[in-house]
Amino acid sequence: MLLVQQCARRAHRWPLRSGLTSISNTCFYSSSYYLTTPIFYPNSVPHIGHLYTLVITDILARHARISLPDRTVCFLTGTDEHGLKIQRAAEARNLEPLEFCNRISDRFRVLANNASASYTRFIRTSEKDHHHAVQHVWRALDSKGLIYKGSHKGWYSVADECFYTENQVERLSGKGNTLSSSSEEIVVSKETGSVVEWTEEDNYKFRLSRFRDFLFARYQSDPHTIYPPQQHAAVLDMLSMPLEDLSVSRPRSRLHWGISVPNDSAHTIYVWFDALINYLTGVGYPWDTEKQNVQACWPPDLQVVGKDIVRDASGSGHTTSQEALGSLHWTVNRRKMSKSIGNVVDPFYVIEELGTDVVRYYLARIGGRFKDDVDWSSEQLENHGAELRSLLGNFYLRITSAAIRKRLPEGFHSNLRESLEQSLSTEDVKEVEVANGLQTLASVVDNHLKELRISEALEAIMHQLKAINALLNATEPWAKNSREAVVMKMYALSLETLRICGILLQPFIPIKAGTLLDAMSVPQSERALQHAQYLCGTMGVTTPGVKLFSNTRVS
Ligand code: MSP
Repeated sequence: MLLVQQCARRAHRWPLRSGLTSISNTCFYSSSYYLTTPIFYPNSVPHIGHLYTLVITDILARHARISLPDRTVCFLTGTDEHGLKIQRAAEARNLEPLEFCNRISDRFRVLANNASASYTRFIRTSEKDHHHAVQHVWRALDSKGLIYKGSHKGWYSVADECFYTENQVERLSGKGNTLSSSSEEIVVSKETGSVVEWTEEDNYKFRLSRFRDFLFARYQSDPHTIYPPQQHAAVLDMLSMPLEDLSVSRPRSRLHWGISVPNDSAHTIYVWFDALINYLTGVGYPWDTEKQNVQACWPPDLQVVGKDIVRDASGSGHTTSQEALGSLHWTVNRRKMSKSIGNVVDPFYVIEELGTDVVRYYLARIGGRFKDDVDWSSEQLENHGAELRSLLGNFYLRITSAAIRKRLPEGFHSNLRESLEQSLSTEDVKEVEVANGLQTLASVVDNHLKELRISEALEAIMHQLKAINALLNATEPWAKNSREAVVMKMYALSLETLRICGILLQPFIPIKAGTLLDAMSVPQSERALQHAQYLCGTMGVTTPGVKLFSNTRVS
């Protein structure tokens, strides 16, 4: 909301788009980095789309931590609990809204934990401090004359929690539509297909129209405010036309489950107005000016929102951050996976079946491009699991196998690095490719992630793992007639690849990467991005036979 424009911005920020090519040269420093997910409606249990949003944000949060380990990273997620949608869902189950939300909000929290999402606060908009923050913002806007009493009529969608104009809806005849069992005509949103109901009511309005020029200029002046570019273009397109004032309350007689308008308990604050303020509440708003650093995390550096809400969010001035990422949609048979359609994939089940990291890997690799929607495929998920098992888990077992270790001379472990420095050939094309790749991999990955190219970052790491796997197959250091020098070189080069890839994989597959680095005795203090440089870290004693994946085999 616009209040955020009044808040002081921090002087030093991590330049997401700095174009740095060498991590060791990273001299920009900011004491905090703040990322947010959208907050989820707990009208029904989570699905893969929600897990995806959490995972994408978590990858960027974890990368921010390893990039500058001394910096505080604030990562906010949670549930958006008020509004008609929740009120009706609770009524349908004969539960008080809070009791209903307690149950389902907890499922979102458990999912975030099962997914290893490293959030620093899980906010619920039913919490007291949030009510306080929302009413504080309301009063601040009211005192500036930005809120007035008016009336509104239009088509309201409870599923989307927003009004649509006449042009944005269409009528479907009773026969032939799947949304109604009766033969009556129904009216639906053209964009989302959700049923709308005609509503006329007195309510409070926010003078959003006054801010169109400001918002347009802001988004136009910096193409990096919204990623990917097509989402940025959609927002500019919307802002190229006049904006209507926003209805920001509902009569209490229709909506009782929400935060009261200050000094007028006959009105409840509109759920989107309430929800967007969570980003402020989550980091301690209203600021206590007596306490130092209380604003340390404000404003957000990166906000992840689904592409369906990026326009609503930016239109109401929500994107105060340096950057907003409009993530794509997961579909099933090309239809958006959604609670209301009922075509959802259960994230708890897939995590239980394949493990957190395999699911994270699939979501990031396929969903981390942000170009087109992607269709969920269990088969593709399993193939991705198999790829990880083979290139990482099985590779670790192969290189630490007895067949190779028994060919290493006594005491070899103590000077792995030296032997690597001395033995690398400059003529073997494959060897040179692996070594060169390792020298630049950390900065390649870092640059991709700074530009939010999650899938590409992951691909660069997997490309490196493929190259070392291929080299291992070609050199066969386990073979009886292999020369000791080749065995030593392959062993050292493989471990160095695993060390660097292990560090870089932490944001994507934190559990497996942690197990790998532990198995290689990489000290906790040497797991930051700066240690992912070629020959820049300790090569410790490696424990053979550690299975990263339960059904990893030694070939
Ligand atoms: N409560 C609002 C957001 C308020 S943020 C101040 C909301 N909630 S939601 O539960 O409906 O959706 C939460 C997020 O999940 C949205 O960003 C939405 O785009 C995302 N997804 C919901 N379904 C999805 C897919 N099928 N695929 C990918 N993400 C999807 O909107």
